[in-house]
Amino acid sequence: MRTLKNKVAYITGGSKGIGYGIAKSLLEAGMKVAISGRNLEDLQRAAQGLGSEEDLLPIASDVTNPKDEEGAVTKILEKWGQLDVVLANAGVGIFAPVDKLSTTDWQQMIETNLNGVFYTLKASVEALKKSKGYYITLASLAGTNFFPNGSGYNASKFGVVGFTQAAMLDLRPYDIKVSTIMPGSVATYFNENEPSEKDAWKIQPEDIGELVLDLLRMNPRTLPSKIEVRPTRPDKK
Ligand SMILES: NC(=O)c1ccc[n+]([C@@H]2O[C@H](COP(=O)([O-])OP(=O)(O)OC[C@H]3O[C@@H](n4cnc5c(N)ncnc54)[C@H](OP(=O)(O)O)[C@@H]3O)[C@@H](O)[C@H]2O)c1
Repeated sequence: MRTLKNKVAYITGGSKGIGYGIAKSLLEAGMKVAISGRNLEDLQRAAQGLGSEEDLLPIASDVTNPKDEEGAVTKILEKWGQLDVVLANAGVGIFAPVDKLSTTDWQQMIETNLNGVFYTLKASVEALKKSKGYYITLASLAGTNFFPNGSGYNASKFGVVGFTQAAMLDLRPYDIKVSTIMPGSVATYFNENEPSEKDAWKIQPEDIGELVLDLLRMNPRTLPSKIEVRPTRPDKK
C-alpha cells in the first residue's frame, strides 16, 4: 500500500486524542477517513477541525456494540466502496487499586479496549480481505509493563497485544497486514487529562499519525508487527 491517495481508513475513537491525530495525518496524505466515537458533539467538532468534508465521514458508533461496528463499516462501504485501513484505537483508562476497582469500571475497560477491538475486526475483516488491507490496534506500553492501579487497564492492553499478534498470524495468508502500536505517554484527553504546555514532553498525537503513515508505506514484504513507542525524554517528576 505504498500509494495512499484515495485509500480508505476507518479510525475508531477518532473524535479526539490519538485517533484525531492519525485522522489528520491520513487526510494530509490524500486518504479518505471515517472517524467514530460515542459523542456526536465531539465528532462534529472534530469534523470542523479536520475541515475536509468530501474526504471525511464522522460516524456515531460505540465499539462495545458489535451492531454499531457493522453499521459503521456498512456506511463506509456505501460511501466509498472499499475499506483499506482499520485503526482500532478507541479506549478508556480507569485507574484504581484492584480491591477498589468497581466491576462496572472493569467491564467498561474490557468491553471497550479488548472486546471492542474484536468487534471492529469482525465487522471489517471481509472488506480487508478484498482490499488486502491493514488492521492496526492501539495497545499501550501498559500491554507489556504492569503497574499499581493498572489491573483492569493492564489486563485489557495485555489482551490486545496477544489478540493482535494471533490475528496477524491468522490474516497474513490473506495478505492483510496486522500490527499493534504500543505507545507510552501521549498528550491527549485520556484519563481526564486536558492537553496543554505541561504535556510538551509527551508524544504528540500527530507523531503517532506519522508512525501510522510509515507503517502503511512500508514495503509490502515487511511487517513491523509490534511497535513500542515512548517519549524520548520522560517527564522529570
Ligand atoms: N494517551 C496516552 O498516553 C495513551 C498511551 C498508550 C495508549 N493509549 C491508547 O490510545 C487509544 C486512544 O486514547 P487517547 O489517549 O487518544 O484518549 P482520548 O483522548 O480520551 O480519546 C479517546 C477516543 O476514544 C473514543 N471512545 C471511547 N470509548 C469509546 C467507545 N466505547 N466507542 C467508540 N469510541 C470510544 C472517544 O470518544 P467518545 O468518548 O466520544 O466515545 C475518543 O474519541 C486508547 O486505546 C488508549 O488506551 C493512550
